[in-house]
Amino acid sequence: MATIIIATGRAVPSRRVGNSELAQQIDTSDEWIRSHTGIGARHIAGGETACSDLALEAARAALSMAIQGGMIREKTLEELALTVDMIILASTTADYIGTPSTACIVQDKLGARNAGAMDLTAACSGFIYGLEIAAGLLAVAAERRRILVIGSEVLSRITNWNDRGTCILFGDGAGAVLVEKTAGEGPGRRGLLRTILGADGSGAEDLIIRRGGSRNPYRAGETVDEPPHVEMNGRGIYTFAVKRATETIERLLQAEGITINDVDRIVPHQANARIVATAGKRLGIPEEKFFLNIEEYANTSAASIPIALDELNRKGELREGSLIMTIGFGGGLTYGGNLIRW
Ligand code: COA
Repeated sequence: MATIIIATGRAVPSRRVGNSELAQQIDTSDEWIRSHTGIGARHIAGGETACSDLALEAARAALSMAIQGGMIREKTLEELALTVDMIILASTTADYIGTPSTACIVQDKLGARNAGAMDLTAACSGFIYGLEIAAGLLAVAAERRRILVIGSEVLSRITNWNDRGTCILFGDGAGAVLVEKTAGEGPGRRGLLRTILGADGSGAEDLIIRRGGSRNPYRAGETVDEPPHVEMNGRGIYTFAVKRATETIERLLQAEGITINDVDRIVPHQANARIVATAGKRLGIPEEKFFLNIEEYANTSAASIPIALDELNRKGELREGSLIMTIGFGGGLTYGGNLIRW
């Protein structure tokens, strides 16, 4: 059995906020942001747009690609949506806390009436976790065939726009992939070949939204000065990210018995171009091997890898047989990577 990504999609809000626009509101500069992060802009959702809206748009784009590509029998979006068995939605910025899941909202609006639906919280590693969970769900039930894995974020809603240490980093967006189970064994087989998933909860406080959950709920009568927002230990995350990204690349290569030369492209979580450059340098990997679009979108957490995959796919850079590695790290703390034969 193989789990193959048959289509990709993305949704990015049209409002683009360049570094210079941010520099008019806080004490920063285009030069500082570019030199410390590689970020040039971010896209910000309008006030009415929630996580499920971007997720739905990305999911529809993926389903449309599958139909237009002619790789499936179904001819309309409605028909195809009915064949989806599960929707896994990774996010840190769900429409609601706890219930309903954002995945259920997408399931309804997409008309995926035969699908189960669930949210996944693994911060920026969410998509990597989601792909492996999808492969597992397809493996354990013969009748399951298609799963949508979505990463969607409206990080602008949990950003403290007065904190120059964090607000420059984040953006909004969603990416989705449609995976399908096919027969496939032996050398050269396509699909998800291997995944590493890890966590280090001792770093929980390094990236945290303190208010609003059951630990620190808002209480009746309380005056709230500011909306819940993410707090970050930038240095701590940086060190963790470089270490875990480096290790995960090495472990994936070792486990598959391959070298970096066998990998066509590494699609890293787009958190900071310097994290990627440092990890690459430590392992002697040429910079061109990594696909980076952080300059345009900033860090979109769980959405960053599927957005990048869709961009590469639509450019025709993911050909059948290409070996793609994803690498991610983020809040939790979590980390991981997938090796995918496209
Ligand atoms: N503009 C201008 N100056 C800024 C700034 C900004 N946006 N943000 C911070 N600074 C200043 C600091 O105040 C500090 O000034 P000081 O020396 O006078 O105190 C100086 O720049 C250095 O700050 P520091 O926090 O040490 O910078 P850094 O080189 O570590 O870069 C990050 C900060 C956030 C870019 C970096 O730590 C990072 O990317 N960490 C990982 C974050 C991440 O990826 N989070 C998401 C996880 S998925």
